[in-house]
Amino acid sequence: MTTTPVDLDIRIPTDNRAQALRADVRAGLTGSPKSLPPKWFYDAHGSDLFDAITELDEYYPTRTERQLIVEHADDIAALTGTATLIELGSGSSDKTRRLIDAMSTHRDDGSGLQHYAPLDVSPSALRGAVGRLRAEYPGLRVDGIVADFTGTLAPLPGPGPRTVAFLGGTIGNLEPTARKRFLTNVSAALEPGEHFLLGAGLVADETAMQRAYDDASGVTAAFNRNVLTVVNRELGADFDVDSYRHVAVWNADDEWIEMRLRATHDARVHIPGADLAVDVAADEEILTEISAKFRPDTLSAELAAVGLPVQQLWTDPADRFAIFLSSKRL
Ligand code: SAH
Ligand code: AVI
Repeated sequence: MTTTPVDLDIRIPTDNRAQALRADVRAGLTGSPKSLPPKWFYDAHGSDLFDAITELDEYYPTRTERQLIVEHADDIAALTGTATLIELGSGSSDKTRRLIDAMSTHRDDGSGLQHYAPLDVSPSALRGAVGRLRAEYPGLRVDGIVADFTGTLAPLPGPGPRTVAFLGGTIGNLEPTARKRFLTNVSAALEPGEHFLLGAGLVADETAMQRAYDDASGVTAAFNRNVLTVVNRELGADFDVDSYRHVAVWNADDEWIEMRLRATHDARVHIPGADLAVDVAADEEILTEISAKFRPDTLSAELAAVGLPVQQLWTDPADRFAIFLSSKRL
């Protein structure tokens, strides 16, 4: 079998990536409490582990959002009339196929979806997704962009009208200040009347939320520890990865899940690529991810505040996940 190599538009040069990881590790591991940003989970192995998480019984967000997309893709296509779909943090783009199907067949003004542009920090996830989608949709232009969605997003590819999609609940992985900056950037990148499609986890039953981040088979634990493997490989660090326990707790005050790595014993960790040595005490925890869960009114207000008033909101019957469709204010 011959496979066509997948070209990507790489907007994070290797040097910048190394520099960004170095800066994040220095800031995060010298802070108190120690922390590491979640975007570093996603090397090729981390992206595979995330895909495995989405198949777990305990991890309800993916299948809940998929069901919402299946049910409402035609409405989304009709309301947006999308010619270009840009997806941030697209991963495998698996659920997106239902949107692409609906947008491709919707012909309000004689034209349907022409261009799909998935954007992700993970080149391996993008390569897989772009290769599959090009084979599946030969008439659709598919351009994979390796970039960090926390940076500036403009100019977005066209032609318009454009829809920016941000699915999976990844908005919850941004801290409130970063979330505000991100939403402001999305709004600034859109023209009046263009759309933002946002999937977000809702505050739900505490046991269900907690189990979703601490599954019985340990896939989420492996995903969590993978960030240390990335730091070891890319910065020559000597974290003893297996000596960190996966911890997932619901922070009821901030309404987010915190994933942490708890050291089982004292260690001095050397990170030559960041010119750093840090002491980690037994039972000390490194915060590796927050996954905020939202209330529809609050998130709708945040969207409206940046010029993205919500036009339609769909939730699943158990109110565990929501899809918000916003239209950039005229
Ligand atoms: N949207 C997909 C994947 C969610 S996993 C879904 O719903 O299943 C989160 C994705 O966002 C991963 O593919 C990860 O590589 C990407 N990601 C995380 N932080 C990012 C960042 N700062 N910039 C761009 N992509 C990022
Ligand atoms: C990508 N993101 C929305 C996932 C989440 O649910 O916060 C990442 C994840 N972390 C643990 N499991 C899944």
